[in-house]
Amino acid sequence: MCGIVGYIGGKNAGDVIIDGLKRLEYRGYDSAGIAVISEGAIESRRSVGKLAELGKILRSKPLKGLTGIGHTRWATHGKPSEENAHPHTDCSGKIVVVHNGIIENYLELKKILASEGHKFKSETDTEVIAHLIEKNFKGDLFKAVLETLKTVKGAYALGVISSDDPDTVIGARQDAPLIVGLGNGENFLASDIPALLPYTRKMIFLEEGDVVKLNKDGVKVFSKDGREIKRETKNITWDAVQAEKGGYKHFMLKEIYEQPQTIQDTILGRLFIGEQKIYLEDVKIDDKKLNGLNKVYIVACGTSYHAGLVGKFLFENLVKVTAEVDIASEFRYRSPVLDKKTLTVVISQSGETADTIAALRLAKQSGSHTLAICNVVGSTVSREADDVLYTHCGPEIGVASTKAFTGQLAALYLITLDWAAKKGSIKKDEFVRLINEFWETPSRIREVLKADPQVAALAKEFSQKRDFLFLGRHVNYPIALEGALKLKEISYIHAEGYPAGEMKHGPIALIDENMPLFVVATKSAVYEKVLGNIEEAKARGGTVIALATAGDKEITAKTDGQIYLPEVDEFFAPLLTVIPLQLFAYHVAEVLGCDVDQPRNLAKSVTVE
Ligand code: M6R
Repeated sequence: MCGIVGYIGGKNAGDVIIDGLKRLEYRGYDSAGIAVISEGAIESRRSVGKLAELGKILRSKPLKGLTGIGHTRWATHGKPSEENAHPHTDCSGKIVVVHNGIIENYLELKKILASEGHKFKSETDTEVIAHLIEKNFKGDLFKAVLETLKTVKGAYALGVISSDDPDTVIGARQDAPLIVGLGNGENFLASDIPALLPYTRKMIFLEEGDVVKLNKDGVKVFSKDGREIKRETKNITWDAVQAEKGGYKHFMLKEIYEQPQTIQDTILGRLFIGEQKIYLEDVKIDDKKLNGLNKVYIVACGTSYHAGLVGKFLFENLVKVTAEVDIASEFRYRSPVLDKKTLTVVISQSGETADTIAALRLAKQSGSHTLAICNVVGSTVSREADDVLYTHCGPEIGVASTKAFTGQLAALYLITLDWAAKKGSIKKDEFVRLINEFWETPSRIREVLKADPQVAALAKEFSQKRDFLFLGRHVNYPIALEGALKLKEISYIHAEGYPAGEMKHGPIALIDENMPLFVVATKSAVYEKVLGNIEEAKARGGTVIALATAGDKEITAKTDGQIYLPEVDEFFAPLLTVIPLQLFAYHVAEVLGCDVDQPRNLAKSVTVE
């Protein structure tokens, strides 16, 4: 939540920063601002609304300077307004700060600072930082920041500049992501990798408690007590083009269409069909320990949680180990029974979701072995987990997660098939059959994507409905939840996902001609049961759209609309069935004129509790 960019070098800082912020706008987009050091003084531009608004202001009143910081905001303290937009200044206007996170003791600090004569101009928690730095400034910005960090409590990624120290940008990180980009005669700060891809691939991922001092020729990282420390420089292989729309109208559509490739990239080099083997390079847990585990907890939020629900089926059916799935914000506040015999799998696209990080830390403290499924190299989750299996999906920019979800599923299939083979919980010929099925997934998704025009037509037909039900059973129940979440988040239509068999225990009362149902009814062991559920809905006047297996004539007669998918082993069905639901949500949002990539009230990574 909130995106930060900092720059120092030979280019016009304002241009680099707005360009970087555009690539971070998915993190928040209710207001934005930039400050640069221009001819020895701080100059800033701020505006409410999306970056395009700030862009307009910058075109009419350009900023000139070689050092600067910028911010795109997702409001926590104080409504979206120009006064509350970052950067925030001290009383003198010589110090400016951008911040992602929450300063928990800001009210207490504000009271003290106000009693000392500091004048506040915003309702934000961030502004106290600028005034504290002012109070602590004795000619050295870095020392003033260190002093300030002793008094603030909470989560922060900070960027700070001062006209009294014009050749320095200071960054600090505590429980919110911050990376440093290393260039030639220029250096960068940012909340996330895509902001910096056009400028550098050499990046340092700051760790908790790190404070960084950037000037144009160098970067030094320190601990909060001022000791210099070494941090590894990583070479990022993501392509800058991956973070562009590439001819698609929206990132979300591009990312839906990328799925055959991203799944292939996640499988490649790990699944060896010829050798009938899976090799997970980063998962170091030894076979003895693995086979001694007796319970799996899967913990995640949102879409990643839905991937976890599919994971439960895979662990139980393939590995024959008990698996529980938890929403991270619940898991962290109950008392899960964790010990050395449990494996905790945390799933996170960004690797920066605050609740997921807290759950991971809880599991580690309790002695559980932790395994992360994560898309962002160097993120907090990926660094802190005992083992990490990266999804190779490239940057996901659309706020609604799509390719990260199928990438997470692919990772879960790899992990469970590998463990099942090692444990001997499935027979060799079954393992071989399943990996061959799995291998076909990318080409099957390509087939499913051909149904896009039909899905678009259905979206047009149903876009005026205000409520939707999504039903699925067994391994497709999480897909019903995911279909409902996608529709809710980008088209603001009320939608609920249900296990189809649960309908008669209450929700069936909702069904009438105004409540269309999407039912995942592909061929599987529960197919007949799902048909029964469709009959029940039809008998009550419901309009049913089915996701069905190609060639299924029975379903054509029983339902009002159908999307046909290639035949697939039921275990792998979620990788296919989710695609039309992603497309449906996308097209409905398009018809309704919603902002697909940046839906209201949301941000891509939820770095606050
Ligand atoms: O980065 P994470 O996977 O940890 O994010 C978890 C959720 O915030 C995320 O999946 C969210 O639900 C998406 N907006 C769903 O499309």
